Amino acid sequence: MILIINGSPNKTSKTMSIVHELLKDTQEEIKIINSYESNIISCDDCQYCSKIVGCPKTDDFEVISNLIYHCSTLIIASPVYFGGLSDQIMKIINRFQQYFSQKIMMKDKNYPRPKNLILITTQGSKKRSMNRGPRQTFAILKSLFNPQNSSYILITNSDHVHILNQKKVIKKIANVKRKIIFL
Ligand SMILES: Cc1cc2nc3c(=O)[nH]c(=O)nc-3n(C[C@H](O)[C@H](O)[C@H](O)COP(=O)(O)O)c2cc1C
Repeated sequence: MILIINGSPNKTSKTMSIVHELLKDTQEEIKIINSYESNIISCDDCQYCSKIVGCPKTDDFEVISNLIYHCSTLIIASPVYFGGLSDQIMKIINRFQQYFSQKIMMKDKNYPRPKNLILITTQGSKKRSMNRGPRQTFAILKSLFNPQNSSYILITNSDHVHILNQKKVIKKIANVKRKIIFL
């Protein structure tokens, strides 16, 4: 199963248009979590997960976590907001802290391990330096999940040019499709 966590609040999200292009020919089951429609409590560093595996908060993250455990491919899609990922997707990612504690502090190997990890971001600016924050988050996620395959698709200049009309965007998507989606 391919799990998409959508970090855009937009119904006609440019970032999700990249995801749909990437997955348009796959036969695999796809599940989408829309972060802006999810009830997620912020991680407040309560330290529960440093002593006990899991998280005491009860909200939509329970469903998301269950899907992360069962997916083969985890796709995180987000617009770039002020040089980072969107706030609602960060609320979800910050809740992954329980997996870090499980893995590093509790030495419990039963944390989720999606085989493939893909981060997709779009940004209005042409400046590639905007992706420093998302790239660092991606590096942390890779070290957490240790996926067999991983890829980061960064699309710039989304506010001025229709992104799927850009040849380099289609080429980039095709490369990731070959490498990960149709292994
Ligand atoms: C709150 C907010 C902050 C943004 N910050 C940046 C930014 O720092 N750099 C940038 O290049 N674009 C920025 N943008 C533009 C979005 O990243 C861009 O329009 C994106 O492609 C929207 O994706 P979506 O249609 O999937 O939501 C920002 C947009 C909003 C609404």
